[in-house]
Amino acid sequence: PRRLRVALLGAGAVGSQVARLLLAHADELADRAGAPLDLVGIAVRDVDAPREADLPRELYTTDADTLIAGADIVIEVTGGLEPARTRILHALASGADVVTANKALLATHGSEIFDAADQVGATVAYEAAVAGAIPIIRPLRDSLAGDRVRRIMGIVNGTTNYILDRMDREGLGFDEVLAEAQRLGYAEADPTADVEAYDAAQKAAILASLAFHTSVPLDAVHREGITSVDAGVIEAARKAGYVVKLLAVCERLVDQPDAAPTGEAISVRVYPALVPREHPLASVHGANNAVFVEAEAAGDLMFYGAGAGGVQTASAVLGDVVSAARRHVAGGPGVGESTRANLPIVPIGRIRTSC
Ligand code: NDP
Ligand code: HSE
Repeated sequence: PRRLRVALLGAGAVGSQVARLLLAHADELADRAGAPLDLVGIAVRDVDAPREADLPRELYTTDADTLIAGADIVIEVTGGLEPARTRILHALASGADVVTANKALLATHGSEIFDAADQVGATVAYEAAVAGAIPIIRPLRDSLAGDRVRRIMGIVNGTTNYILDRMDREGLGFDEVLAEAQRLGYAEADPTADVEAYDAAQKAAILASLAFHTSVPLDAVHREGITSVDAGVIEAARKAGYVVKLLAVCERLVDQPDAAPTGEAISVRVYPALVPREHPLASVHGANNAVFVEAEAAGDLMFYGAGAGGVQTASAVLGDVVSAARRHVAGGPGVGESTRANLPIVPIGRIRTSC
């Protein structure tokens, strides 16, 4: 079979692990994909920056455009809105499939990107964009496509869970634990995105859009971060039998008098909540995430695992890469390889911003 050219944009916490695993497991990945996957280059800002993974220096380049132009699959793990958006659009226009972990971009410019992919028959895969290593995008988009999701509730940010958990269990200070989360590669480049819950809000918008087959704009998500949660709040919660968790709650509301035409509306909220200590979410420790899905036919489902971390997230990225490669080998979209925009987009009513 034809060898597939894989371009990687970004070699930080996630990208360096993606590259390492692509090279270390090349033979196995080729077997699973149906074609060898050649890592043809890694676009970074500074080719001389010290890096965690020991990768061949000749792979690094600052010329992302040339790298993208010759690729079959482009992996975007740089983060931020620009130049990530322009580069992904360039990749799609060049005929490449795209794999990204960039929830900020998808929550902001997702419609434009999915439309661009549909126009050229390419795919944009983003399993890593929500809840790190946990498979949650495909279950919502594909496995539950025949069901009706009523509610999603979960912990979808690893950094804030790591901070709240260590404050609670070890009595450590907020700043101290945040610095540790940054060192471990959990936090966003600007950790304000984590602690002010922008990251969790972006993930909630993506989950709600998938679950309710609509398009939830980021500014419709109610957002409260954890910066006001100090040792006193944690201690008071503990004494009352609770633990503080940053929750994302996406709900289908029924019988809404002002929601035409179906009588349904949706509510998407992210906020620090008091969770009873005996509740399963209270036992989600460290940078782990957990997502509960309540569906009409399936009933209650629970997804749990590493919500952040370079190598853990690389697992989700590589799963998408193998799927994209299989699609190339088969010459078209395969089972479960549709983009979000291939599903019917059904407006289900007014989007509520209040609690
Ligand atoms: P890092 O900040 O660790 O790494 C970013 C990488 O992108 C760096 O190698 C940087 O280059 C490169 N980069 C940034 N801007 C540019 C640019 N303009 N041109 C070329 N290269 C650029 O980020 P992470 O690896 O932590 O995160 C990457 C993405 O994955 C983000 O979208 C993030 O939200 C997402 N994600 C992260 C998770 C995690 O646990 N860290 C989990 C799930 C998703 P240089 O090294 O030269 O500065
Ligand atoms: N900064 C994010 C988090 C990375 O802590 O959850 C994973 O999306």
